[in-house]
Amino acid sequence: MAPIARVAVLFAMDAEARPLIDALGLTLDADAFARVGGDVPMRVYSGTLKSGARVDVVCAGSCARHNVCNVGTVGAALSTYETCATLRPDVIVNAGTAGGFAKRGGEVGDVYVATKFKNHDRRIPIPGYDKYGVGEYDAWPTPRLIEALGCKTGVVCTGNSLDATETCRALLDEFECSVKEMEAAAIAHVAHLFNVPVIAVKTITDIVDGPQATEEEFLRNLSSAADALRDVVPRVVEFLDGKSVDEL
Ligand code: ADE
Repeated sequence: MAPIARVAVLFAMDAEARPLIDALGLTLDADAFARVGGDVPMRVYSGTLKSGARVDVVCAGSCARHNVCNVGTVGAALSTYETCATLRPDVIVNAGTAGGFAKRGGEVGDVYVATKFKNHDRRIPIPGYDKYGVGEYDAWPTPRLIEALGCKTGVVCTGNSLDATETCRALLDEFECSVKEMEAAAIAHVAHLFNVPVIAVKTITDIVDGPQATEEEFLRNLSSAADALRDVVPRVVEFLDGKSVDEL
């Protein structure tokens, strides 16, 4: 199999993406999504890796009405669709922060690579739609990458809320969720339409089954989890560089 020629790294929050953009010396490609017309919120930062492969960091951008980053599945699906249709990556890496679970050994600052993706907040109790709602997708297998990083692995569950209702918690248990976040299953859904392998790397800001309020713990630990992303995501990109997806 040919080496990866193009990698796209997708982020929801600018604060999560900036360290990688700086570490790789990427520059804003203002025309990357020009074919769409209009004022799409996504921002693409591009550059070349050692092997000559191209790397595009795609940020979901900001909501013009509320002036915050486009977190969640809508922004993620838009970013992924346009990334796949326009940039045609050989592999997508979704990087970001997430909630972890003490009952599965998770701690703030941990790095996880996803094994699979599920939705925990698309509950449709009608035959057929029930499974569609959960929408299970396998992450691209990356045993060598996981070994090189020495990181944890687990099921990543996606929903559009930072908090978790009792129903969410029951499903997160049923799905043996190790990582709770807001984009990965949407990215996997769209990437699968284009047959693009997806890898997700998440660092933990808060413990979902811990005693602290999620939003306070998240805000308190965001910069240390962003530091962990700053360390690990360049290592992931470096590991991919020059390899085929079958060598990961
Ligand atoms: N991002 C960081 N922590 C999270 C959580 N607990 N749930 C969803 N997204 C998150």
